Amino acid sequence: MTLEEIKDAIKNISDNYKEDHIGGWITGDGPVPCDILFVGEAPGKTEVETGKPFVGTAGKTFENYLKSIGISRKEIRITNTCFFRPIKKKLSKNGRETISNRPPKTSEINLFRHLLDEEIKLANPKLIVTLGNVPLKRLTTFSSIGSCHGELYFNEEIKRYIFPMYHPSSLTYNRSEDFKDMYSKDWKKLSEALKKLTTQQK
Ligand code: URA
Repeated sequence: MTLEEIKDAIKNISDNYKEDHIGGWITGDGPVPCDILFVGEAPGKTEVETGKPFVGTAGKTFENYLKSIGISRKEIRITNTCFFRPIKKKLSKNGRETISNRPPKTSEINLFRHLLDEEIKLANPKLIVTLGNVPLKRLTTFSSIGSCHGELYFNEEIKRYIFPMYHPSSLTYNRSEDFKDMYSKDWKKLSEALKKLTTQQK
């Protein structure tokens, strides 16, 4: 598949999805092929408005840490496990409708399974970084980020290196200094893993 065909398929799936509420869709962003592919969960409001992954609050955090290890966003590709924005709608007491994000369901992730596989093939990265539990479960056999973050693994099935990281938005939920230190260390470890892989394979 080409990137254009992947985009058409994402649009088609999203346009025809009737099982639950969704609020728009996006594709991955960045060069193809690339050394490093980041995989997030699903787009939010800002992402759908701009048509790009990781441009909202989590995206800003992400970009700062990326810069801290000397990599610019232009050099990497970033995509998602679920390409549409899963939303829930609620009626407030005054009768107004409020919309918020919800996590993607397994059935929704599965709708895009083949498309993420195609994107990985096209991008042909030396390393895939999973951001949070959703892409972790999709691309490894681990069930929780707490037990595997900050280490390099080889996925025999897809024959690719995977580096699991916490989702950047976890910094918003966990504001302790210890967590922040650990998260910064994971980025340093990522930088080392990347250096090792890019020199190894040249
Ligand atoms: N969080 C994600 O997981 N993906 C995005 O694209 C934006 C925020």
